[in-house]
Amino acid sequence: MVYTIGGIKGGSGKTTVATNLTILLASKGRDVLLVDADDQETATDFNNWRQETLGDTGYTFVQLYEKAVATEVNKMTSKYDDIVIDTGGRDTKSQRAAIGVSDIYLVPFVSRSFDIWTLEKVEELINEMSVVNTELKSYAFINKADHQGTDNQDVAGLLGESETIQYVEAQLGNRKAFSHAATSGLSVLEYKPKDPKAIDELNTLFKAITGRVEARV
Ligand SMILES: Nc1ncnc2c1ncn2[C@@H]1O[C@H](COP(=O)(O)OP(=O)(O)O)[C@@H](O)[C@H]1O
Ligand SMILES: [Mg+2]
Repeated sequence: MVYTIGGIKGGSGKTTVATNLTILLASKGRDVLLVDADDQETATDFNNWRQETLGDTGYTFVQLYEKAVATEVNKMTSKYDDIVIDTGGRDTKSQRAAIGVSDIYLVPFVSRSFDIWTLEKVEELINEMSVVNTELKSYAFINKADHQGTDNQDVAGLLGESETIQYVEAQLGNRKAFSHAATSGLSVLEYKPKDPKAIDELNTLFKAITGRVEARV
């Protein structure tokens, strides 16, 4: 399965989700390739730090940009069980190339922010790319969800109305475990002290997106 984590907003949690998803898949014994397609190289920094601290990261890593995202990923789909592509928060050639070769396009939206204003542009991007990739499944979810307040519901309502992107109710809370784990080169699955809620949220999100699609053959 090829996953692209994208959107057109920085700081929404794309790299956090991409790295956690990669390690979650690897922890299930799958052979995973993590692709950094963002020229800001946050996934690269994460990967380097993980390699320095752990030695074996548990997955394979590569940086790819623009057209190479499509050509190289296409070459490697049969070599890996899963490929996870982390993209930058802009509508770039790299992100389009990634969407073009993906089974799943996953877009985090932060509830208390301007992220929701980008929904229309994300929908446009998906609609344009759906001509190229007719099999693409696109999912939106709320990241950094607040513990209380109506913001989550407001954003959920707007995402739920979209006919282009499927809203998944699984949310990731605004939890220190996500940011602390990332700066340690770890997923929340590995980070100590364990945050069972963060782990549960990650697993639930993963099930929500994978439970709905058949693997590409
Ligand atoms: N669910 C979360 N809870 C707490 N902090 C988060 C969460 N998701 C992301 N962050 C933090 O928000 C910042 C931006 O996340 P990042 O994954 O780098 O976003 P992006 O790749 O979309 O720019 C980072 O400092 C990250 O640790
Ligand atoms: Mg990023």
